[in-house]
Amino acid sequence: MNALNTSGLDDVTFADTLLSDVDGAVGRLVIAGRDVERAAPESTLADFAADLWTQRPDDVRASLGRARVEAFARLPGVGEALAQPDGMDAVRSALSLLDASYDDPARITAAAGVFAAAWMRHRAGAAPLAPDPAADHGADLLRCMRGAPARAPESAAINAYLRTVSDHGMNASTFTARVVASTGADLRASVVAAMGALKGPLHGGAPGPVLDMLDAIGAPDHAVAWLEAELSAGRRIMGMGHRIYRVRDPRAAVFERAIEALTDGGVSSGRLRLARAVERAAEGVLRARHPARPLHANVEFYTAVLLDALGLPREGFSLVFAAGRVVGWCAHVAEQRAHGRLVRPASRYVGPAAA
Ligand code: COA
Repeated sequence: MNALNTSGLDDVTFADTLLSDVDGAVGRLVIAGRDVERAAPESTLADFAADLWTQRPDDVRASLGRARVEAFARLPGVGEALAQPDGMDAVRSALSLLDASYDDPARITAAAGVFAAAWMRHRAGAAPLAPDPAADHGADLLRCMRGAPARAPESAAINAYLRTVSDHGMNASTFTARVVASTGADLRASVVAAMGALKGPLHGGAPGPVLDMLDAIGAPDHAVAWLEAELSAGRRIMGMGHRIYRVRDPRAAVFERAIEALTDGGVSSGRLRLARAVERAAEGVLRARHPARPLHANVEFYTAVLLDALGLPREGFSLVFAAGRVVGWCAHVAEQRAHGRLVRPASRYVGPAAA
């Protein structure tokens, strides 16, 4: 059978949005009026959530704190779901068990983070840790995820990560959330569907495999041969390439700076040195194979190094991504409800004529 041409879907101009702008030509990401590369170093996920949800930062901080405690109290009711071996399956299933009181941005955002932390603790054979409602959301999640309090630079680093991934235009999971919301379904249904879209390695599932790649390469000198072998085997290089960016993903630079701040200017991070060498090598081998298609590091390349430096398990990296991106999903669902109509792309029938 001939391959179907689905590329027309790429060209659909979906909607005006007040939430974020991705400029793929110059490599710039603006979230609710803030350029992610120039965001104040002390700004947190809660600050970005306040902008995206058009709420006051103090109110968002307070409601996230309360909601983390309430989500923790729900854990006994979702225990079976969170025992699943795959973290994305576990948290997606657990979120789907919540009641209508979770059709609220702060409550479902807190639940996504608290459930992710509980899954990581379960995986490590440990009991979940109770959230601290007075703590910063990102720092508290980091503590609950890895079981050790966040030092000030770690708190800054996890917030740099979470705020930077909080929204990103009409990416696959956000589009999914908007499609579901456009049918009149509730916020929980939209977020659960978006979690499904974020699971795949072409969207949110690459950072764990990026770390596996760095481990497999081991030393800068091995990079070119390893990468060439991957491509010759027909596999893609994880953490490289993007649908929109034709230059380096601006989020990579934010994460690099956060890693440097965590590790004495990067001096003590052998992993960062290796990652930079592998990135350069990957750009080279991909340029040779795809001279017409610029392929550079995307968000997930340095996500892997940053979340690893924060002591988080690679199997949980996509869950940390989801704990940040859920903020944007909630904002898009609200925007879709307020201004959108049913999303219904067209298809062109190329099957057999009716008999
Ligand atoms: N490694 C090897 N080749 C790649 C590549 C990668 N990471 N990314 C793109 N390419 C190649 C494709 O094989 C294709 O080559 P072809 O035209 O000879 O078939 C060409 O570049 C264009 O790829 P295409 O699949 O059309 O681009 P896309 O816009 O659909 O893909 C991604 C975007 C992100 C899905 C893609 O770059 C990718 O698979 N990256 C690796 C996974 C990853 O990092 N995911 C996280 C994304 S944030």
